[in-house]
Amino acid sequence: MKTQFVQGGVKTLKNDGIALFFFEDAKLFAEKAKSVQRVFPHSKGVIESGDFSGKKNTVSLCYYGSGKTTKRIYLVGLGKKADFSAEQMRRSASAVSRVASKSKISNLACELLANDVLNAQATAEATVEGAYLGPYKFDKYINGGKNASKLKTLAFFTDSKTTVAESKAGVAFATALCEGVYLTRDLANAPNNEIYPETLAERAVAAGEKAGFSVTVLGKKEIEDLKMGGLLAVNQGSVRPPVFIIMEYKGGAEGEAPVVLVGKGVTFDTGGISIKPGAGMSDMKIDMHGSASVIGGIYAIAKNKLPMNVIALVPATENMPSGTAYVPGDVITHMNGKTSEIDNTDAEGRLILADALTYADRYKPAAVIDIATLTGACGIALGGVTTGLMGNDDSLKARIKAAAGNTSEYVCELPLYEEYEEQIKSDVADVKNSGGRPAGAITAALFLKMFIGNYKWAHLDIAGTGIASKDGYYTPKGGSGVGVRLFVDLIRNWKNNG
Ligand code: BES
Ligand code: MN
Ligand code: ZN
Repeated sequence: MKTQFVQGGVKTLKNDGIALFFFEDAKLFAEKAKSVQRVFPHSKGVIESGDFSGKKNTVSLCYYGSGKTTKRIYLVGLGKKADFSAEQMRRSASAVSRVASKSKISNLACELLANDVLNAQATAEATVEGAYLGPYKFDKYINGGKNASKLKTLAFFTDSKTTVAESKAGVAFATALCEGVYLTRDLANAPNNEIYPETLAERAVAAGEKAGFSVTVLGKKEIEDLKMGGLLAVNQGSVRPPVFIIMEYKGGAEGEAPVVLVGKGVTFDTGGISIKPGAGMSDMKIDMHGSASVIGGIYAIAKNKLPMNVIALVPATENMPSGTAYVPGDVITHMNGKTSEIDNTDAEGRLILADALTYADRYKPAAVIDIATLTGACGIALGGVTTGLMGNDDSLKARIKAAAGNTSEYVCELPLYEEYEEQIKSDVADVKNSGGRPAGAITAALFLKMFIGNYKWAHLDIAGTGIASKDGYYTPKGGSGVGVRLFVDLIRNWKNNG
């Protein structure tokens, strides 16, 4: 998707579709209706009939001109002004661009609102996010492109002369952000025969070249030298070798402690010898969403040149059953020397993250945040709406909660009380990789906690929010792209929130 900023009123636009946003409140609605009707008399019918009344997320269409000059004018509802927010702006912008993407339009122009609730930059960002993210489809494998949207360009216009710089900056920032989200969704949704450890690494390298961060890919030999026993054990049943991807973006001062993001990169999770049931197993192509989130996240951070040092780490492997696979009862030794008893080969994510969390310590990081489709239990607890947040530091958790509020990528904290550790005690090793069904998200996080270094740490369980069972307001069914907007907001505000 291409985006552009246009300084000018609605009359100057050449686009084949134009989106105009209305509040529902009677007075505001009437004022807006009057000004729109002056330019587009055709809109009179749909307004006077009462068919369109500005209710949130509604879209009404009227045509203007005919033949080659046909324009679609979309009247889009924002709901009541008292309830207005950046999130409402995203949802309404998404609603109209989704409708437009199903038409023959190639170039949709969206009005940028100026009002006292959101400043010009925030408005521009929210409008771009909604319009860009809403119509996403993973349709690259569908022949003929019949389902492919014609919508290729989004323009954002305002006739305000005073806010040009802010609006322009907002469009540019959110465009890079949305590219990151698209990258994450494309990676997450890709099947295992497209994205496996080696190709995931290639895509990370390509993203680094485009956005300006360095990428180092460690192969099996180097992973063995580092003694990453968790990553190697999970990989044991697989024909395809593991990789460990290191992405480094240096936007901050030389020597400044970085924030390290760690993403689970299980490119397909069969469960291994503790094999999963067949029904729904194909969803497990998305078990590398955490890795996709950190790749898309660092892409958007680098593209927007945020003034921070950020590292992203991805341990990547498949989890396969075979004659060479690791089996329940195995005891493995991790990079930090700790041992774990394999109770269930399907609890593989924590095993590979353990080594990455140990590796992260060498950066002397300001904080480490891991993100993973880690437990079905988290999906059951919080559904597809809210990500599970756990960690060892209140200030870091507060930063993440603030970013969640700004982006509406909701998080909810689950407790890491020491009492739960009982469930992952092993008779034969330092820890056991499964704690049974009760509090499954918590015991998984407590397992990870055993492998962290001397740093502030938070864990995001996106098993529910990463793999969506249905379309959301501006997220698609399948890989949602969750995490990218959260990370970018977190890093953007890091220095303000001291
Ligand atoms: N990748 C799964 C978790 C998952 C399940 C993500 C459903 C998204 C949707 C993870 O590797 C897993 O299998 N976890 C097990 C852990 C258990 C064996 C302790 C689970 O949640 O059942
Ligand atoms: Mn698993
Ligand atoms: Zn998994």
